[in-house]
Amino acid sequence: MKNYKLAVVGATGVVGRTALKVLEEKNLPISEYVLFASSRSAGTKLNFMGKEYVVRELTENSFDEGFDFAIFSAGGDTSKKFAPIAASKGCIVVDNSSAFRMDKDVPLVVPEVNPEEIENNHGIIANPNCSTIQAVLPLKALDDKYTIKRVIYSTYQAVSGAGQKGLTDLENGRKGIDKLEKFPYPIYNNCLPHIDVFTENGYTKEEMKMINETRKILKKPDLRVTATTVRVPVENSHSESINVEFENPFVLSELVETLKNFEGIIVQDNPDSEVYPIATNANGHDEVFVGRIRRDFSVENGVNLWVVADNIRKGAASNAIQIVEKLINMDGLYSPI
Ligand code: A2P
Repeated sequence: MKNYKLAVVGATGVVGRTALKVLEEKNLPISEYVLFASSRSAGTKLNFMGKEYVVRELTENSFDEGFDFAIFSAGGDTSKKFAPIAASKGCIVVDNSSAFRMDKDVPLVVPEVNPEEIENNHGIIANPNCSTIQAVLPLKALDDKYTIKRVIYSTYQAVSGAGQKGLTDLENGRKGIDKLEKFPYPIYNNCLPHIDVFTENGYTKEEMKMINETRKILKKPDLRVTATTVRVPVENSHSESINVEFENPFVLSELVETLKNFEGIIVQDNPDSEVYPIATNANGHDEVFVGRIRRDFSVENGVNLWVVADNIRKGAASNAIQIVEKLINMDGLYSPI
């Protein structure tokens, strides 16, 4: 079997470090890893796969030595500059940033939902936004069966999604230290209805990402979707209220079965014994947890869902590594066009 060479770009960051952990767990047929970050942490030593790795500075020549795959988690600017360089040298990039997600030539992939898109890559595959990834698993399951007409997202997003600085703001707030590195207001004791920058239509960029990425992944460009995304004082794992309206009627027990049978979803729903998904239970897992499943009696064919997942694992690192795993399994069966 072929052995592969993989680069982790942004290896010192919150997503990058989790990617290293997931790679250790999966033990893919990868014989060589190289870890990159900026000049700030070049030289940093990280323990990985039972060895000490020295982090290298990412430069324009980093991909000259030849890589099969690279996972980029170093922000949009780094991806914009370096992902095309990597791809031009024959490396397939799985990019965690938003830089290429809406590019029509770049597949936007959640392996349980649209794995067929992987084949259409030209060297870059985009990992969707964390809040979109966990939402599209239940939506795909239900769209296939009942045809979705409209979606209303309300999110409760953890600070880890804002990187190390987000985690630091929550930690400082908890300790009573009056200093902010990431958010415009204290996140401790607050919910901030503001993730990423505001856009001209009054929505935030995070909200527009959810709307546009959902349409692209579900291949429903005209789907009616709205979103309110909120940062909450939770360290890790995003929670989402998702209200869905269908074209077709449904039997609630069958809808629950449909969710249970979908790869990557775990239904946790038993109000009698207070069972529903919560962030601290989702931490460390790659599945998407769904509960509070109930008919929305204010419309004809509607349902309410509560959807929780580890935003750093399934929402970023694990989803990217699942894509690499699929690429490895597909190797020899296709070549990027
Ligand atoms: P560094 O440690 O050198 O700053 P987070 O999202 O947790 O803040 O992490 C961001 C990650 O992206 C870090 O690993 C960071 O490395 C990396 N990074 C930021 N800018 C660059 C860059 N210009 N080139 C390579 N890596 C970068």
